[in-house]
Amino acid sequence: MKFFVDTANLDQIREAHDLGVLDGVTTNPSLMAKEGITGKDKILKHYVDICEIVDGDVSAEVISTDFEGMVKEGEMLASLHKNIVVKVPMIKDGVKALKYFSDNGIRTNCTLIFSAGQALLAAKAGANYVSPFMGRIDDISWDGVDLIDQIVEIYANYDFETEVLAASIRSPLHIVKCAEIGADVVTCPLKSIMGLLNHPLTDNGLAKFLADYEKGNA
Ligand code: E4P
Repeated sequence: MKFFVDTANLDQIREAHDLGVLDGVTTNPSLMAKEGITGKDKILKHYVDICEIVDGDVSAEVISTDFEGMVKEGEMLASLHKNIVVKVPMIKDGVKALKYFSDNGIRTNCTLIFSAGQALLAAKAGANYVSPFMGRIDDISWDGVDLIDQIVEIYANYDFETEVLAASIRSPLHIVKCAEIGADVVTCPLKSIMGLLNHPLTDNGLAKFLADYEKGNA
């Protein structure tokens, strides 16, 4: 399973990269705004900065919502760096744009997926990744894990090459659940990845090993 970090914060991206387990990055307009990255030039430079830290796929989202606008923007984003994957929303013109990009060798991530039907449509249009937002589904008391499971099963039935990129991850448990059901990728806040490290028995065990070593070697 690939690990992506879901942030536009360069320090967090560096920290995940330095851990040695990072395969890529996803961003969205809200995450860019959170870091104070505004204005076209700053935004484009920031994508390049991210690509220079991570040797893996970096999703950059289009702002346009019409076909022509998405194509123009997507082509420009893709030309920034070889790592860029163009993130396209699951709307009618978005599906048309996914097909256009797929026919023209530009890699895509279809975002804002909340149903298996949407995921099926994105795969048919040739998306490289689909991003089901599991946390936001949990937030309205539906089951995000069930949705990921359903999409993984549908793609396996037809050998779709589209990768299931579980998004809107809220916890380390979400990551483990995604691994159990075979999601191809998880994109997570750094905190959720770091949360995988923790176990009190590990801490207690290490403290005991070190104390015993001290006793014998003081
Ligand atoms: C996906 O690529 C999105 O950036 C995402 O994971 C959004 O998550 P949120 O629901 O925590 O905003």
